[in-house]
Amino acid sequence: MQILKTIQELRDFRAKCSGDVGFVATMGALHAGHAQLIKTSVSQNNHTIVSIFVNPTQFLPGEDLSRYPRTPEADIKICQLCQADAVFMPEVDEIYNQNEIKILAPKELSSTLEGVTRPGHFDGVCTILTKFFNIINPTNAYFGKKDAQQLIIIENMVKSLFMNVNIVPIDIVRSSDGLALSSRNSYLNDDELAQALKISRSLMKASNLIKAGELSSIEIKKAMSSILEPLRVDYIAIVDKNLNPVDKIELGNSIILVAVYVKNTRLIDNLWV
Ligand code: PAJ
Repeated sequence: MQILKTIQELRDFRAKCSGDVGFVATMGALHAGHAQLIKTSVSQNNHTIVSIFVNPTQFLPGEDLSRYPRTPEADIKICQLCQADAVFMPEVDEIYNQNEIKILAPKELSSTLEGVTRPGHFDGVCTILTKFFNIINPTNAYFGKKDAQQLIIIENMVKSLFMNVNIVPIDIVRSSDGLALSSRNSYLNDDELAQALKISRSLMKASNLIKAGELSSIEIKKAMSSILEPLRVDYIAIVDKNLNPVDKIELGNSIILVAVYVKNTRLIDNLWV
């Protein structure tokens, strides 16, 4: 497996690839969720490139950019075990100059949900992915449903900018007790981890209610809220695939999203119904 640091090294590597190229974008602190994306890419492409880059433009002032977990040696091992062909780990200066163009995420999709507390976040995501797609020109790019809004915005960007890449969504990977894996889980102590389990439990409750025939968004949200107590809930939302709120669950077309604070750590999770 090759470790690439510069854009030129990445371009040279890409030029030698033949057949399908899979791309997995990450910010490192890799866990089994990321590994699932990488393994799927390896199984579906001739070559797989993983990026590990804590992208400063998607963090707002005051967010956790400086303390975001960085575990490069362990990350490289995971990429190796998953049989990735190359890891792209650039410095910030390699990627960003002083005078930068910015790709703006569509307003309707990026100003709701995560966008309310993180305005501009998805512009940073769209900008970095446009850069990576331009350098790598991947056949397939793999994204987790864990970040549902991000996935929907990326699909929208690729479609509206006629980008020549196939976006492949990957199901959420959870720990055995249900917690959605996230690099930010490393901020939690044992007590907070136990509290965080309420998030997946609330989604499980929603799933059971829906199976029992309850389709009212209000009722489902009420039941979820009572499970999430006393955590500080940022939002519980039930939306369609355009992120518009729906009053009634439509099977195959609804997503239930949750964002809560466990102490100072903001965690998100969701259920694609
Ligand atoms: P990061 O949070 O590192 O996530 C990288 C990819 O892994 C994303 O597509 C995310 O949805 C996926 N992922 C994370 N946890 C997952 C889980 N438990 N199950 C399945 N997939 C999971 O998302 C980002 O980085 C950045 O915004 C990025 C796209 C790299 C742009 O900087």
